[in-house]
Parts: sequence; C-alpha cells; structure tokens
Amino acid sequence: ATSSARAVRVDSPISSVPKEAVDIDWDALGFGMVQTDYMYTMKCSIGGSFANGELVPFGNIEISPSAGVLNYGQGLFEGLKAYKKEDGNILLFRPEENATRMMMGAERMCMPSPSVDQFLQAVKATVLANERWIPPPGKGSLYIRPLLMGTGSVLGLAPAPEYTFLIYVAPVGNYFKEGLSPINLLVETGMHRACPGGTGGVKTIGNYAAVLKAQGEAKAKGFSDVLYLNSVQKQYLEEVSSCNIFVVKGNTISTPQIEGTILPGITRKSIIDMARDQGFEVFEKPVTVDELLEADEVFCTGTAVVVSPVGSVTYLGKR
Ligand code: COI
Repeated sequence: ATSSARAVRVDSPISSVPKEAVDIDWDALGFGMVQTDYMYTMKCSIGGSFANGELVPFGNIEISPSAGVLNYGQGLFEGLKAYKKEDGNILLFRPEENATRMMMGAERMCMPSPSVDQFLQAVKATVLANERWIPPPGKGSLYIRPLLMGTGSVLGLAPAPEYTFLIYVAPVGNYFKEGLSPINLLVETGMHRACPGGTGGVKTIGNYAAVLKAQGEAKAKGFSDVLYLNSVQKQYLEEVSSCNIFVVKGNTISTPQIEGTILPGITRKSIIDMARDQGFEVFEKPVTVDELLEADEVFCTGTAVVVSPVGSVTYLGKR
C-alpha cells in the first residue's frame, strides 16, 4: 500500500464481488474476448494527474467522436497475465515492467501516464474483482489489457485535453490455433511495421492496425503469421505481428536488438535472462534472414503467445 497523494481509490461501487463459478468450458479457451464482471477506469486532464480510479461493471464506454484516440490514434495498450496457483494464490507476471513500458510509450505519444504504483494497484484491483474468471491452474490465464487513450475532444492535430486509463480482462488459452504446435511464418518483404524514429518500439495501437493487411494476406495463404524485416536494408529481422523472434544455432541464441523499431517484450527479456542462466550465449544484435534460414531452431515470445516454436519459415517463396 502507498501513502502518497497519488494512491488509487480502488473501492468498487458494488458491495460484493460475485463468487459463483462461471459457466465456461476451460478446456475450450482460445485467445478471444470473453466478457467478465468489472473493468477499471481512471481519468486525467492534460497537465493534471490521474486520480479517483474506480471499478465499474464491464460495459461500453461513451466517447466523443472527436476524441484524440479515434481521430489521431493517440492510444497505447499493454498486455499481461494473472495465473491461479494450485494453492489458490494469484500470480502476476512482472507487472511493474508493463507499468514502466506504458510510461515510456506515453512519453513518446505525448500522453500523461499512471504512475507505476497506480498501474499496479489498478491491475490488482481489476484481477481481484474478476477472480472467478481466472482459469484453474494449467487451463490458461487471465489476460489483462490496460489501455491509455486520449479521450478528450480535439479537431486540430494536438494532444487530447483528457486521458482515460482503462483495464479490462479476459480468460485466455493458447494464442495461435496451432496451440503449442509449431507455427508457420511468412517473411514479409513488401510491407513494414516500423521505421527508425517511428513508434515501433512502443505499444501504440496504430502499430497493430498497421500489420493487419500483411497478416491477413499471409493467413489466407495458410500461414500462422508474418515476420517483418527492417525497413531500411530489408535484410534484418524485426518482429512477428504480435511477438518477438529468437534464432537458435548450436549454443548461441540471437534476437534483434532493441533500437526503437521493435517492441521491448517482457517475455523476451525473461527468456534472454533464463537462456543466459542456462549457459547459452545470447546476442541482441541485427539478425539476418540468412541466419534465420540456417537456424537449428526458431521461436517466438510474447505475453499472448508465451513461447511458440516455429516449424517453418517461408522467404521469397522458399521454405
Ligand atoms: C501481447 O502479447 O500481450 C500483445 O500485446 C500482443 C497482442 C497483439 C495480442
């Protein structure tokens, strides 16, 4: 608990959190929206600070047609997970990393951000209010989706005058329809997701709309997803639409370095630490398509995808 003036009010307008078991087939969970009981919202005017966060029943939000997020894409999101342990305790995976990443992204997108402490308290309150939606141990996790959006009205291009921090949650299982079986990636040579100096290194909403076209075309051809190349030399790996990529050769593991065009994944960071602990040599460096094609193993990491093995890579029609 904090005694600072920025402490979040987490009391809910509802007197008690529903405890009855939810009617859900935990074995059939994929990665799709399942509506839960509560969401968390907190507002901030420009120049002010976030305060008076509250839990409210999950539902639609009202927003001005001229909101900054709708007109100019002034928005960020995060993704993290809560797990239920056998002993009934709930675990959050490195939530302070998401809090600091949101603060960094907010700086790039000219938005105020909740403090780390506010973020953590809000996440905990939202998870506890939706506890009955956390899958039983081994059946999946509760995906937590914090949003930060310019909800104030603007017409001329400028930062919005008001911001909303919102968290909703949904129980999830595996991200890819392949489950934990290997996925098939298409190396995209025409479209790019980011450029130097752009916003590829922050979790802004526009980065994700930008990949839909290439991803859709690849899926229509039977691929699981698309691997993007850097937009300058078009020879170095960047990331997959929703995750980071790792290439294994013997005792070395390589992954593209963080230089502003790829997302600094939290699972990515954890895997680098674990691999080093286990004696692998890990390089964060430019990784060429040739290294990818000659790899012994390839895998992807992300909050949603966790660690997904890659079964095939197709580049310029060759597999
Ligand atoms: C996550 O892994 O949490 C992400 O944000 C990826 C998203 C596209 C599902």
